[in-house]
Amino acid sequence: MTKPTFYVTTPIYYPSGKLHIGHAYTTVAADAIARFKRYTGYDVKFLTGTDEHGEKIQKTAVSLGKSEMEFLDEQIAAIKELWSKLEISYDDFIRTTEPRHTKIIQKIFTQLYEQGDIYKGEYEGYYCTPCESFWTKTQLLDGHLCPDCGRETYLVKEESYFFRLSKYEDRLKELFKDDSFCYPEARRNDMVSNFLDQGLEDLSVTRTSFDWGIKVPFDEKHVIYVWIDALCNYITALGYMSEDDSDFKKFWPANYHLVGKEIIRFHTIIWPALLMALGLELPKRVFGNGWILFADDKMSKSKGNIVYPEPMIERYGVDTLKYFLLREFSFGNDGNYTHRNFINRINSDLANDLGNLVSRTAAMINQYKGGIVTKNESETKFDKELIEQAQKSYKLYEEKMDDLMFHEALDSIWQLVRRTNKYIDETTPWILGKDPSRSDELDDILYNLSESIRIISSLISPLMPATSRKIFSQFGIEDEEIKTWEAAGKFGLLPSGTKVVKAEPLFPRIDAEKEIKELETLFAEKINTKPANKKDDENKKEKSSDKNEKSNSDTEHKPEISIDDFDKIELRTGKILEADKHPKADKLLVFKIKVGDETRQIVSGIAAHFDPKDLIGKEVVVVCNLKPVKLRGIESQGMLLTAGDDDDKLVLPDVSGAKNGSIVC
Ligand code: MSP
Repeated sequence: MTKPTFYVTTPIYYPSGKLHIGHAYTTVAADAIARFKRYTGYDVKFLTGTDEHGEKIQKTAVSLGKSEMEFLDEQIAAIKELWSKLEISYDDFIRTTEPRHTKIIQKIFTQLYEQGDIYKGEYEGYYCTPCESFWTKTQLLDGHLCPDCGRETYLVKEESYFFRLSKYEDRLKELFKDDSFCYPEARRNDMVSNFLDQGLEDLSVTRTSFDWGIKVPFDEKHVIYVWIDALCNYITALGYMSEDDSDFKKFWPANYHLVGKEIIRFHTIIWPALLMALGLELPKRVFGNGWILFADDKMSKSKGNIVYPEPMIERYGVDTLKYFLLREFSFGNDGNYTHRNFINRINSDLANDLGNLVSRTAAMINQYKGGIVTKNESETKFDKELIEQAQKSYKLYEEKMDDLMFHEALDSIWQLVRRTNKYIDETTPWILGKDPSRSDELDDILYNLSESIRIISSLISPLMPATSRKIFSQFGIEDEEIKTWEAAGKFGLLPSGTKVVKAEPLFPRIDAEKEIKELETLFAEKINTKPANKKDDENKKEKSSDKNEKSNSDTEHKPEISIDDFDKIELRTGKILEADKHPKADKLLVFKIKVGDETRQIVSGIAAHFDPKDLIGKEVVVVCNLKPVKLRGIESQGMLLTAGDDDDKLVLPDVSGAKNGSIVC
């Protein structure tokens, strides 16, 4: 019998730096659904990959003195290594620089041009390089900043090819009447009121201002702009328009595109319009997951508030991180990451609930029954409730997994975990263990506990595969027949005579306070470690610090600005009155600086370069009109100017002798 198919995708990642746990979130979720579907009998295609074109990639490669491909290959190797550490079970990894993609993008572009869906015109827009996004003047923050990341944009006018997005407006409106396409509901409403109802304009789809992209085959000075290139990966990976399009025929349309909420617009408006133009079926559902925030802000390198997955995996194990990501946050909503919540989840859900259940049960089977589980006819009055809970959890779990409500799916399993722990308390096996006349009853209890653990281990297997493997192995469950999805729905399949062994605790308890401090130090170091000529912590935090963001190389110049632009910056001389180490971050110093009549508190990431006591009394230049930001809990009201010396150490520009508080210009 042929299996039903299931096609799930993640966004393709920009390989322009290390991925953090926010990036990993979508992929961990996609992996969970892919594994679940395989487990429940589907023929699954799980696609991920990398989005390798665009000006930002090119500039980063150049600033590092590498060729684009050299830079990309290193990045892709690191991304694949991360996916392997996270046990991501993708079936295909597409790189948009691969010929199987680039050739087809050219074919798609040509076809759309020939059929009149793409035409030539002139583009005018404000470009944000880090976000690779163009904006209209009215969309900009304060008339000049990128509305997504708050950084500086610049005006671009150029000849461009346009996609006739407006032609598809009515069909898109129809599409949005079907409430199953764009998920969750809040995102659908947002798309309708903020985009569709505002009217759609044709979309510029090529650029001439840079050349790291797929060339328009009939007009080579144009490269195909990132969204046509990137979005079509979902079909080029399946062999669409290629000699072998069997996967395309088999798996398209996708069941789920999982994407972060900021790119849902591209996936629910531009992507379906492109597919309509190509005469193809539309994906069944696009799910826009929320962001993982750090201290209420989006986790991002430019803001310096990143938690990386690798140290978490090394310290706590891969499944701990996966469990946390899927259990702590509701997939459609934003959620705040804190070290405390992370540690609490480990201690309460993993160590206390699941870990304890497994180790207590295994210990009792070993202590009272020489490690052997025996099935018999005895029964306790508590058995029925336990079995009912197992069945209830199974059904609820399936429903929640299908809806991508991972936190509720895990909760349904934990209802069984907690019920099983309660069963131990109710049946008191440690009392029965001392009474040989109740040995059969004890067998029944230990059997039921082992059965419950077998079911729990089966249900967690798509979400926490490594833990599931460990539990199966500890409980001597080798027969694949009793590990299947069908078997997880039945109580009583574990054969009599199964041998349970002792093992290390699955999730050791953690000293929360100590560990939180260690995590703070660990990530503060990761956040603040950087060469002297790169942006410092203040700049990272400050949204409009495009200035430093791009200056990876001393030789690289920034776009020209007018005198009016320069005039917006208030630079003044100040005198350092106090300089102390930041109590929570080794790389930061906290200053009190007298600037004219006022004293400002400024936090700066320069601790590696100075001894604070040497700085007291120094006359410095302060950027006074930067929006205040909190850096690890302490407000910084401005920024200190520094420069790099020959050894990449920082020095303070010398303004001694100038009047305190005077304007520097
Ligand atoms: N290349 C585009 C996607 C093109 S898909 C045709 C892109 N890449 S990305 O690397 O910037 O982001 C990849 C995914 O990571 C996006 O879905 C984005 O929303 C997600 N996340 C990045 N930071 C995140 C959080 N802090 N939290 C949750 N998801 C986040 O966009």
